Amino acid sequence: MLTIVTLISGSGSNLLSLLKACDNPLYPAKVLAVGSDKDATGLVHAEQYGIPTFVVEPEKFDSKHQWAEVLAANITHLKPDLIVLAGFMKILPESFTDRFSPKIINLHPSLLPSFPGAHAVRDALQSGEKVTGCSIHVVDAGVDTGPVIRSRQVDILADDDQGSLHERIKIQEQAMLVEVVRDIAEGKINLEDFDGNR
Ligand code: GRF
Repeated sequence: MLTIVTLISGSGSNLLSLLKACDNPLYPAKVLAVGSDKDATGLVHAEQYGIPTFVVEPEKFDSKHQWAEVLAANITHLKPDLIVLAGFMKILPESFTDRFSPKIINLHPSLLPSFPGAHAVRDALQSGEKVTGCSIHVVDAGVDTGPVIRSRQVDILADDDQGSLHERIKIQEQAMLVEVVRDIAEGKINLEDFDGNR
């Protein structure tokens, strides 16, 4: 059984999709806890599934480093096999990513390396491209720069706005996350093969 700690900042639709999958006894992964940098609305999904939650707010610390140390401490005592960033919107310092990489993956709403950063859906829409998508990558010290494990394409429609496009991307993200976590658990994906630090 692959054990996971998930970090979120938002509505947690990807978290919910993972929790639903993990609820099936045949699914080879289990979420141990869900953390956030704020009182994110998505934490309610964890509570509904009886999964412990923790919140570590950067504003309560003198430095990013101190915040990340406490965040890491909340994770390490659980000894998870994998950390999943599912809409976690804070940039983690290198001290944190070095500690966990390559056993830390992030979901991003574009076909990386195109459109990294916090405005990927808006940037894809403004680019005039006809296709965007979503990616799951190993987290390294950069922002959305780690090796891509898997991606899915999503067409950009002529009448799309940011909301409609992001909703269709999220449908693909949710399915891809469940698929990738299963493949990691079953050894079909070896994260060491994607270790950008080597
Ligand atoms: C997803 O699109 C993810 O790629 C991005 O933030 C969004 C989170 O959505 N990093 P949700 O909170 O899982 O609904």
